[in-house]
Amino acid sequence: MDFDLKNIPDQPQRVAIVTGANSGLGFETAHALCQKQIRVIMACRNLAKAEKAKKQICDKIPEAKIETSLLDLASLNSVRAFAKMYSTKYDRLDLLINNAGVMMPPYKVTEDGYELQFQANYLSHFLLTGLLLPLLTKTACSRVVSLSSKAHEEATIDFEDLQCAHHYSKWKAYGQSKLVCLIFAKELNRRLHKTGATTIALAAHPGISNTGLFRYFPKWFNAVLSPLLAPLITHSPKNAAKPTLNAALGQNVTGGVYYGPSGFMGFKGAPGKVDSSEVSKDEEIAKRLWEVSEELVEFRYLN
Ligand SMILES: NC(=O)c1ccc[n+]([C@@H]2O[C@H](COP(=O)([O-])OP(=O)(O)OC[C@H]3O[C@@H](n4cnc5c(N)ncnc54)[C@H](OP(=O)(O)O)[C@@H]3O)[C@@H](O)[C@H]2O)c1
Repeated sequence: MDFDLKNIPDQPQRVAIVTGANSGLGFETAHALCQKQIRVIMACRNLAKAEKAKKQICDKIPEAKIETSLLDLASLNSVRAFAKMYSTKYDRLDLLINNAGVMMPPYKVTEDGYELQFQANYLSHFLLTGLLLPLLTKTACSRVVSLSSKAHEEATIDFEDLQCAHHYSKWKAYGQSKLVCLIFAKELNRRLHKTGATTIALAAHPGISNTGLFRYFPKWFNAVLSPLLAPLITHSPKNAAKPTLNAALGQNVTGGVYYGPSGFMGFKGAPGKVDSSEVSKDEEIAKRLWEVSEELVEFRYLN
């Protein structure tokens, strides 16, 4: 049966973290989880924006159990502080939605010395998941959902220059960051499965939706092409969040699966299981990525 939020029961005992929940897909995801009475922690880098988004949700769902918390994925210290705060305050974590992302910014190195897209989209989520793993695994049937993209399809991983220090192509770096998110989701699921935990990991992509993600796109593209192409290949953030929600809340889902829109070329349409590139399924590459990631964040888990 196709995923439909209406068929999902209320889940008042459950708790979810959504990174980057103040706008776009993260906002829609948080909103939908609140509709199901799930307690939602909006983990955002800008608390003023997060509070504004929280108010928008509370205006529609006054009984929403929702709070905001600071998380800047461009800082591993911020990730550690958030995980510590969460682990002190809560004794369960049902859903971790690794949603936040940035696309095609000018070249920037974070305070930790890593390329911004690689760290914000992937590496910090890798650390966040590891730090929250004790809570995830003690919570029955918990799930970790990581956001990938159609951009992963043409992407490769350059292990010799993961941080794009020798050559920065904004698009290649974005594609690589989204590919590693997908590889991570699959490898995380394999490693969880070996431990016998009931936690599963999945990945999702939204197709295309005109959100804040496109802020670094060339102005001419947004001005000229976007109005022509938009009706053909994009859908609303609300619809684009459905693959994430399918992965997070769908019944009869299995770990390691990738959800996305099932319409023309995966740009839009109802959510369903979708295929991914060969490299995203390569277990040797996944193992290598995991080991490199552990070294970069100086934290080991599930090995
Ligand atoms: N929209 C699409 O067509 C599309 C397609 C494929 C994949 N995706 C993926 O979907 C996810 C959500 O994107 P979106 O379309 O909803 O874009 P969006 O509206 O720009 O939302 C991105 C969210 O991530 C947050 N974020 C960015 N950098 C961060 C950092 N350093 N620390 C913490 N949060 C940070 C943003 O915060 P601020 O508001 O403070 O910037 C915002 O809340 C991303 O992972 C993206 O790669 C989107």
